Amino acid sequence: MTAISLDSRLHTILEDRKGKGTFRSLKKHVTRENSDESDPSAKIDFSSNDYLSITRSKQLKRRFLQRVQETPTPLFGSTGSRLLDGTTPQHATLEDRLCTFFSYGSIPSRCPSVIPPPYESALLFNSGFDANVSFFSTVPQKTDYIIYDELVHASVWDGMRANERRGVPISRRKAFRHGNVADLRRILEDIVKAENAVNRRASTSTSAPHRPGMIFIAIESLYSMDGDLAPLPQMIQALNELQSLHPTSINPARVCVVVDEAHTTGIYGSQGRGFVYDMVERERARGSRENKVEEWVQVRLMTFGKGMGSQGAVLLASSTIRSFLINYARPFIFSTAMSVVNVLAIESAFDVIESNEGEQGRSIAPSSTIEFSGNTERERIKSTGDPTAGCQAPYFSLTITDITL
Ligand SMILES: Cc1ncc(COP(=O)(O)O)c(C=O)c1O
Repeated sequence: MTAISLDSRLHTILEDRKGKGTFRSLKKHVTRENSDESDPSAKIDFSSNDYLSITRSKQLKRRFLQRVQETPTPLFGSTGSRLLDGTTPQHATLEDRLCTFFSYGSIPSRCPSVIPPPYESALLFNSGFDANVSFFSTVPQKTDYIIYDELVHASVWDGMRANERRGVPISRRKAFRHGNVADLRRILEDIVKAENAVNRRASTSTSAPHRPGMIFIAIESLYSMDGDLAPLPQMIQALNELQSLHPTSINPARVCVVVDEAHTTGIYGSQGRGFVYDMVERERARGSRENKVEEWVQVRLMTFGKGMGSQGAVLLASSTIRSFLINYARPFIFSTAMSVVNVLAIESAFDVIESNEGEQGRSIAPSSTIEFSGNTERERIKSTGDPTAGCQAPYFSLTITDITL
């Protein structure tokens, strides 16, 4: 009997996918500059993540070329993993800049007694995907929980799955309904109840008392599929309430909120520092003595492939988490570090988003959403009288129900 060839087997699977209407293929992207001006479809960008049109910025090009001129050779490839030859002075300088830029310490506090926590450190990754896989596959340990919004990015899923073999068992991974604070709260309360029951049993027997692990909560600040912001203020409020009810079970030493800011980097917060930074800034402006957001949110992921018009990502976390990832994260250890050229492109993109041009882009993005999101959004704004209603994101989702592929 002749074996069926590999191509033929794969072909059958792909044909099946075509039948289901989920077949993927690559389309060549036409940029505005290169396109035929008479082709209206090429004039409006409805699909990229270039929210500030930064990839077309003349300032970006100028700054990048200047940085290239000023950088001594070797300039292009990083020549190795970060752990070998790949940590160039340019990588280290960029990490220092990002650490300072995103640090909450840079927000002036109206309340002098509030000292920013000393946990900020920055670790560059070749992509946001690598960063999420690295974090979720290594940091959560066997006795920990991971609670995640059901719509978190595929990279978080891949990280959690990779973790399963040596870390958090599937029974300790719990999804809450998308953006649903009550559901998140229910899961946390169930964990507390179960632990209290174990502790009660332990107190009447000779077995050792339960040693609680960490609880990681994985969310995105802005979800790309629906264009909705995470209800982070309400989540923080729920955590505060739970802490006052169960202070030994729910507290910032035990609960670590991980926020993926892929779609808010460069777009939200002062000079594009992101959604969480914006919340902390508002909290400090109110003179709040309890800077709860920065206590609960201990890890942030900022990516550079979307609003920053470049590529790569940075994970902001404690220096211990940074060191742990350098030691255990396989995508970080076993991959060539990002090229020096890419590092310079990221530096240049930060030059732009910190400038007036970045400010202008950020102010235009929401109105463009209203412009193009059609009657639904316009009606919503008319009925609520709130110009920001329904346009939190520089993009929007349209649900098409009646479609034949
Ligand atoms: C929420 C979210 N996280 C992470 C990523 C991955 O980031 P990167 O494109 O840098 O790999 C994406 C990209 O689509 C994303 O949308």
